[in-house]
Amino acid sequence: MLINGESNENQALENFENILKSRRTITFFDSGRPIPPEQIVKAIDVARWAPNHKKTEPWHFYLLGAEVQDKVKALITQIKVAEQGEASRQAIRERLDAIPGWLVLTCEVSADSTRQFEDYAACACAAQNMMLYLWQARIGVKWTTGKVVRDPRFFELLGIDINRHKIVGLFWYGYPLQIPAQTRKPVADIFSTLS
Ligand SMILES: Cc1cc2nc3c(=O)[nH]c(=O)nc-3n(C[C@H](O)[C@H](O)[C@H](O)COP(=O)(O)O)c2cc1C
Repeated sequence: MLINGESNENQALENFENILKSRRTITFFDSGRPIPPEQIVKAIDVARWAPNHKKTEPWHFYLLGAEVQDKVKALITQIKVAEQGEASRQAIRERLDAIPGWLVLTCEVSADSTRQFEDYAACACAAQNMMLYLWQARIGVKWTTGKVVRDPRFFELLGIDINRHKIVGLFWYGYPLQIPAQTRKPVADIFSTLS
């Protein structure tokens, strides 16, 4: 028989499991419902509690306001039109205009490859903290690493020194219009016990 505290703990654990498993990458957002910046600041406050070796705290978050968003959208459109052709311009721009929230996460560059590896891992943990926190607030995110995040023009637009920082991702966020289904391999396929 479960005593009261135990059943609450089991429930909390089940809820936590559900948050972790139900988070999905979101592509289509409700463009009419912007997310208040305070909510993103709260998510960043949570993100920075990610593990980071040697306490390097190698991350920096940039919330993009309307003016810089516009410039970034123009750059992404330019990159994609060059790949897909002029006829795709309007559809590309409309898709970008429908994204309510824009955030960039950078990681410090290190000359030491072990430190770089660990710092990137720490930033990925921070990104996941942020996405899970937002997911619990019903806000969906897409972590993107398209060509633009490696384009020197993007760094210039954001005022980020390309020699000192890598862009971990451009994060689009908003209230989801659709939550896609996903699958994972069975645990047995990805888990081994070594004696
Ligand atoms: C480092 C990283 C980069 C990603 N870049 C992109 C991207 O450029 N475009 C995209 O549509 N999804 C991107 N994703 C999201 C993945 O496609 C997504 O996580 C995967 O399809 C599994 O879906 P889920 O997040 O809903 O479980 C990225 C995810 C990670 C971790």
